[in-house]
Amino acid sequence: MKLSHVGIAVLDMDRALEDYARLLGYEKSDEVLVESEHVRVAMLKMGNAELELLSPTGDGAVAKFLKEKGEGLHHVAFEVEDVQKAIADAERNGFRVVDKVPREGAWGAEAAFVHPKGAHGILIEYYKKKGKVNR
Ligand code: CO
Repeated sequence: MKLSHVGIAVLDMDRALEDYARLLGYEKSDEVLVESEHVRVAMLKMGNAELELLSPTGDGAVAKFLKEKGEGLHHVAFEVEDVQKAIADAERNGFRVVDKVPREGAWGAEAAFVHPKGAHGILIEYYKKKGKVNR
């Protein structure tokens, strides 16, 4: 298992992209709208890992997160071979999970989340990119 990306909730995507370009000088960014989750997603490639910026386009989990906690760390994602197995193992080991079945994330990736309760306050994402497609 290796670190895939760190998810950060932001209020203003354009502003965040501009600020992080100046602060971190990421190599490139790809953007997508995930209508079903009412969120705009940008992946910033930085060396071996990525930053995933999330900004709300309507009512949804990210809007709720921002309202309750403000901007900042939303989740930490780990690349796994088998998302279904990873989430089933977590549940079998007594962890509370958000998804019992993997959901489709941005760019057709597979994702499943472990609840921050029981994971020391961090929402953990098991993540697998679709095929060999590198966005
Ligand atoms: Co993510």
